[in-house]
Amino acid sequence: MTQTVVAGPVQAHPPALPSQRIERFLEQNPRLPTPFLVVDLDVVAEHYRRLRAALPRATVYYAVKANPDPAVLSLLIGLGCNLDVASLGEIDLCLRLGARAEQLSYGNTIKKEADLNRATRLGVATVTADCAAELDKIVRAAPASTVLIRLATNGSGADWPLSRKFGCTPQECLTLARRAARAGHRVGVGFHVGSQQHDVHAWDEPLATTAWIADCLAAQGIPLEVVNLGGGLPSSHLAPTPDVAAYGEAITAAIDRHLSPYPSIHYMVEPGRFLVGDAGVIRTEVVLVSRRDGEPRRWVYLDVGLFNGLTETAEEAIRYRIRCAERGSPAGLTERGEPTEPVVLAGPTCDSLDVLYERSSCELPLDLRAGDRLDLLATGAYTTTYSSVWFNGFEPLRAHHLPASGLSPAAAPHGSWS
Ligand SMILES: Cc1ncc(COP(=O)(O)O)c(C=O)c1O
Repeated sequence: MTQTVVAGPVQAHPPALPSQRIERFLEQNPRLPTPFLVVDLDVVAEHYRRLRAALPRATVYYAVKANPDPAVLSLLIGLGCNLDVASLGEIDLCLRLGARAEQLSYGNTIKKEADLNRATRLGVATVTADCAAELDKIVRAAPASTVLIRLATNGSGADWPLSRKFGCTPQECLTLARRAARAGHRVGVGFHVGSQQHDVHAWDEPLATTAWIADCLAAQGIPLEVVNLGGGLPSSHLAPTPDVAAYGEAITAAIDRHLSPYPSIHYMVEPGRFLVGDAGVIRTEVVLVSRRDGEPRRWVYLDVGLFNGLTETAEEAIRYRIRCAERGSPAGLTERGEPTEPVVLAGPTCDSLDVLYERSSCELPLDLRAGDRLDLLATGAYTTTYSSVWFNGFEPLRAHHLPASGLSPAAAPHGSWS
């Protein structure tokens, strides 16, 4: 029987526990080879419904990179969800699984012109740029597309900021949007406030900037047609975050505050983590527990690490909730009254980068030993695909999917503007 969370500081109200279906799967498959991810597709569907209820004005584009498993994609495509794709590989996959090209937004700001050409021939008609050279490619290779210009954000409030590598200044965004419009494109503005964003108000500032751009464009007779609100909605990791309804309220209020003069703008939202994160649990086995001379904490080595699924623990950015499958309880004492203590948690490879949590404290039972199993909760996003192919001979992270129950057949796509 799997029990409660034991890692990290005690939380007064621990966020979402794994679904009952996942608990049953883990109970019924106690000897399944580890490490593996199990994903409950009912949870994905439920999060999709919750997001649509929280942000009814926005068309949802699932960020495929978060978890491109065909089971996940087929479910979301069947529910009518649109898709944010980063590459031709993701485009081909989505089309193969039944998505229509007009449901896809090619959101990567870094694209080969040949790939843009092929995407255009396949019918993809929404693309993103954040600099003049990328816009030049789009003007040449995707002349009839809607172009979204990506604004830079500072990523503050996010555990996984996407600030340095992407986006342009407001002035440059305006210049690029103007150029795209003059080249005959419909134009929009997009941004990403950083992944696992804790601050429900993080969308306010970029929306205010977007309104300034809309005003400047309007003054020249150019309509701003689309605003892409990006991703950033969180999963249930260690630090508690507000409910998605609170994000929806804050984003809607910011739209009303800044962009009410432009009621015909079409809004997109591109969640990755929120749709799939809470739907997954990684089960792992303790390979080694070592106590070293002069070190106050034991080192606990797992069969999963930075190179086979847990890349987002790099610099301890994403802090997963961890429980001991056999014992478990809030940090400090197990349910049987056994003490816990802080440990350093590391992965199995011969690479010193493969340390999950050393700066931040992770509490595990004192009598934890090799062979014990741990669960990393809310790990459905950015795990399987971040897994290396065969580093040190370890297999990529395996995944099991619990099929969706009671799905109504093929819903119509919602809110497409093309
Ligand atoms: C362009 C784009 N859109 C959406 C997302 C999804 O972000 P999140 O998982 O925080 O929802 C990402 C993540 O990297 C992204 O690069």
